[in-house]
Amino acid sequence: MGSIPTESLFSELSDIPLDSHYALKEEFSADPAPKKVILGSGIYRDGNGMPWVLPTVKEAEDIVDNIGDPGRYDYLQIAGSAAFYTAARDLLFGRVDTKVESIVSVQAVSGTGANSLGARFLSESLKPSAVWLSNPSWVNHANIWSLVGVEVKYYPYWDAEKRLLDFENMIKTLESHTKPGDVIVLHGCAHNPTGVDPTKDQWKTIADVCQRRGLFPFFDNAYQGFASGDLDEDAWALRHFAGRENMELAAAQSFSKNMGLYGERVGALHILTASPDAASKVKGHVLRIQRGQVSQPPRRGATLATTILTNGKLFQKWLLDLREMSSRIKDMRKALHDELVALGTPGDWGHILTQIGMFSYTGLSPAQVEHLRSEGHVYILASGRISVPGLNPGNVKYVAAAIDKAVRGGLA
Ligand SMILES: Cc1ncc(COP(=O)(O)O)c(C=O)c1O
Repeated sequence: MGSIPTESLFSELSDIPLDSHYALKEEFSADPAPKKVILGSGIYRDGNGMPWVLPTVKEAEDIVDNIGDPGRYDYLQIAGSAAFYTAARDLLFGRVDTKVESIVSVQAVSGTGANSLGARFLSESLKPSAVWLSNPSWVNHANIWSLVGVEVKYYPYWDAEKRLLDFENMIKTLESHTKPGDVIVLHGCAHNPTGVDPTKDQWKTIADVCQRRGLFPFFDNAYQGFASGDLDEDAWALRHFAGRENMELAAAQSFSKNMGLYGERVGALHILTASPDAASKVKGHVLRIQRGQVSQPPRRGATLATTILTNGKLFQKWLLDLREMSSRIKDMRKALHDELVALGTPGDWGHILTQIGMFSYTGLSPAQVEHLRSEGHVYILASGRISVPGLNPGNVKYVAAAIDKAVRGGLA
């Protein structure tokens, strides 16, 4: 009989702190203050601070439930639902009839799963010396790429002093420090966490650099339609890259935000290759990885999304839902900005208005963020990022007053 181990085989593992978003939620829940506000996670809330099931999604639920497909709990294919991933591809790429045979599309476990599947495939096939992320980027990008053993490097993105895109240094770094075959992760629109996107001219320059340096662009598209309210405008950058001669790229796509299907995990990975022959090889490898990781992606959310994307009337109504969400966010940016100006809060707050999408990078320092939390019971990420849809007419004055106090507190 073997002896019973007295010490765990895992006792040497290092302690991993809880992800910053979840740690913030825990602190918020534990705060007994009667008035408190959390502006942490990237999740849409309505004007009353409540989750919002899109009216279009409710209609899609009724349609799907009425059909009562007897196969609704069957497995999907390894690639997922073809109806879903082709409709998703057309939404993202627009009309690409000439290249369609060269695009590999597979359903993924939302945007995170698409990033992760793409990272695994690109790490194996391109063997990049590094992946280049914007500094800062969505916190999970570095985690995802570290998990596949690729060195993570950063290109400058945010000019903290001017609260703008640091375009000049971004380009300088990409021109001088990257190696051919490296992957560059680009946010298709509504950059997380800064809310600052390149202009169209700047995107063209980034595409030039990618082609000149032999970088492989990996677009992360988590906010199409959610950012500006216009699906085509928010896909402009990706479509510009995809429309170039000799451009191969990958794109992760999520329907968490633009359809409010967060927990359903609806997304897709698309890889634009140089030829149908290359696409067929890529598909085989992507499916091999998908088989090992999730086997088949989940069905119900994809069925709801397909219903919206392929039913003309529902699609038109979805455009209104997108406009409602993006307009409410813009209204809240203006409300917060105007409150700070009315209070005479020291500093320039114009960047809150010009940033786009779910987040605003306020420029508040870690000490000011801590003051907000301990004195104002307003919880935001240490980086100073706020999730704008967490603001509503009932709390925006309160949040502005708390920011005012933190800034006036003489805290740098
Ligand atoms: C830039 C970016 N990529 C991907 C995601 C992934 O979201 P999901 O996995 O819910 O689609 C998010 C979510 O916040 C994001 O901001």
